[in-house]
Amino acid sequence: SEKTSCGSIRNELLELFRTALTVSFPSVSAEPVVAACNNAKNGDYQCNNAMALFGKLKGTPSAPKAPRDVATAIVGALPANGLIAETSLAGPGFINIRLSRDSLSTRLSEMLVKGLASWAPTGYIGKKVVIDFSSPNVAKEMHVGHLRSTIIGDTLCRIFEYCGADVLRLNHVGDWGTQFGMLIEHMADARRLRVAAGGEDKDMDEDVADLQELYRAAKKRFDEEEEFKTRAREAVTRLQSGDPESLASWQRICAASRREFEAIYSRLGVTLQERGESFYNPMLKDVVEELKAAGVATIDNGAACVFVEGQSVPLIVQKSDGGFGYASTDMAAIKHRLNEEKADWIIYVTDVGQSQHFELVFAAAKKAGWLVDGSGPKVSHVGFGLVLGEDGKRFRTRSGDLVRLVELLDEAKSRCAATIRERRAEAGEEVNEAEVEDAACAMGYGAVKYADLKNHRTTNYKFSFDEMLNLKGNTAVYLLYAHARIAGIVRKADKDVYALAADTPISLDHPKHLYPSPSLFWPSHATVTATYFSPRLQELELALHLCKLPEALEDAIEELAPNRRVDVAFRNLVPTGFTLNALDLPLRATHYRSIKLRVTDYLYDLSEKFNSFYVDCKVLGSEQEASRLLLCEATAVVMRKCFELLGIRPLYRI
Ligand code: ARG
Repeated sequence: SEKTSCGSIRNELLELFRTALTVSFPSVSAEPVVAACNNAKNGDYQCNNAMALFGKLKGTPSAPKAPRDVATAIVGALPANGLIAETSLAGPGFINIRLSRDSLSTRLSEMLVKGLASWAPTGYIGKKVVIDFSSPNVAKEMHVGHLRSTIIGDTLCRIFEYCGADVLRLNHVGDWGTQFGMLIEHMADARRLRVAAGGEDKDMDEDVADLQELYRAAKKRFDEEEEFKTRAREAVTRLQSGDPESLASWQRICAASRREFEAIYSRLGVTLQERGESFYNPMLKDVVEELKAAGVATIDNGAACVFVEGQSVPLIVQKSDGGFGYASTDMAAIKHRLNEEKADWIIYVTDVGQSQHFELVFAAAKKAGWLVDGSGPKVSHVGFGLVLGEDGKRFRTRSGDLVRLVELLDEAKSRCAATIRERRAEAGEEVNEAEVEDAACAMGYGAVKYADLKNHRTTNYKFSFDEMLNLKGNTAVYLLYAHARIAGIVRKADKDVYALAADTPISLDHPKHLYPSPSLFWPSHATVTATYFSPRLQELELALHLCKLPEALEDAIEELAPNRRVDVAFRNLVPTGFTLNALDLPLRATHYRSIKLRVTDYLYDLSEKFNSFYVDCKVLGSEQEASRLLLCEATAVVMRKCFELLGIRPLYRI
């Protein structure tokens, strides 16, 4: 499978257990099931195959007596390896795994020396991934929904790019359609009025200066004036037949819109290739003809429709008046992406309100034979929920308008600038305005992105500046400060950490030496608390979490494909008599979470683990300074990678 080629710990364990399973029970085939332990007391990872395997073996001549016997046999068949230090059995037959500390510290040292690229999951190298995101509509407001699509889509792109995929970031701008008729006609009227008043008879920039206003005014007239409506309809026909003058006006409107969108993208650090609906316009006729000829689309009430099993409505690929719409364009687009772009995976990022549309488009593409279930290219719709105001209703300004993105970003930034100035003043530090400005951008835009990404993508969330800018919560601001503090520690040590990494082994033993070995106590000190017996190894916990980055990313990618949910695989493995809840499989929870959540949660946990480590383990001036400095640097490096994947610019000092 795609996952197994990566060198993550989980994948290495999967390989070891795959071998152990074939060796111990050659008569049955079973996919290894390995997951991180939820509770560090039990182990670092666990293998959960024994119970299901026991169920499968029941009634066969060599059937074991209990699931635990199955587990013992699996453990006995594990190949020699440097990764597993120890295994133990728990419950009905869980195999708990303790990793070797050396293998963790070697992993970290290697990462520091070779760079984080060496940790990238390898299952997607060279795969063509087309991500259709942001995709606002020309002349209409780019609203918070488009902001979500932009943020989520960009993060997806960044994760795939880190994994070595060939990512095509497509902006499927709504730049074609009947609304242009009224816009063009309204602009022409403005020009006529100007000429009548003695003004210039040419197109002026002011005509498209306020596109929202242009849209609003044109729409009002379209709804109220019959004569205007007729002219607007004629203008659409002229535009569609390629009339040069109409095309020129259309282009001016698009160009003005593009400038507004670009301003937002550049602030957010998002790159996109514009390939709007108009791009597919020349292909629509042929695509619809193909669908009709193949019997995929049938005529219903004059319209060409694709009926799909299990769906209450058809996909209308051609209206009864012969016109093409949003769905026609998406059919042409999916075909183009499959045939011309040779996509291995096409991902669409829009609000969940469009879920049915995409289900229909995917089903229609399958019906047409362009896509095949279970093999070849994949398609996914990544849907997201609404952004709500603090009142729990759709996010709007006080005046009731949809919130303008530019203003929102401005406010986030200015609030951050104020906080930074305040903190500098408290610390009695000098304030460098350019520096504050720069940090405020990173923090403010980062906070907006993080607040969006940390939520389950399909649920609605409340937009709150107070919450997202909280210095102490699960926010980008908190994380950026945490990172700056770690960078400060490393800076203060003033050592070449990379030279250190090459020859100083990272020790993960603290604070074992503080406590006598539990075996010396037992059993006479049975009353000593359990925590005393299992001292928390802060260095070890931090190291383990750092090494889990590749898995967090694999999970993130896996989760975006609903058809590849691991919990489904689990269900098949769980024998009757056990329920998922009783087993409490650790992966289950993670696989119900959203893609972004995995990375933001990972990052937040990392900073928490670092804090616990830092409280217990003195770094500068300690005996273990060199080794601990490497743990600090590894944490900073991994945090920066997470920031990068989330589209947040890290700060080194705030
Ligand atoms: N322009 C659309 C909107 O604002 C989103 C387009 C999404 N992409 C697609 N291929 N349909 O709702």
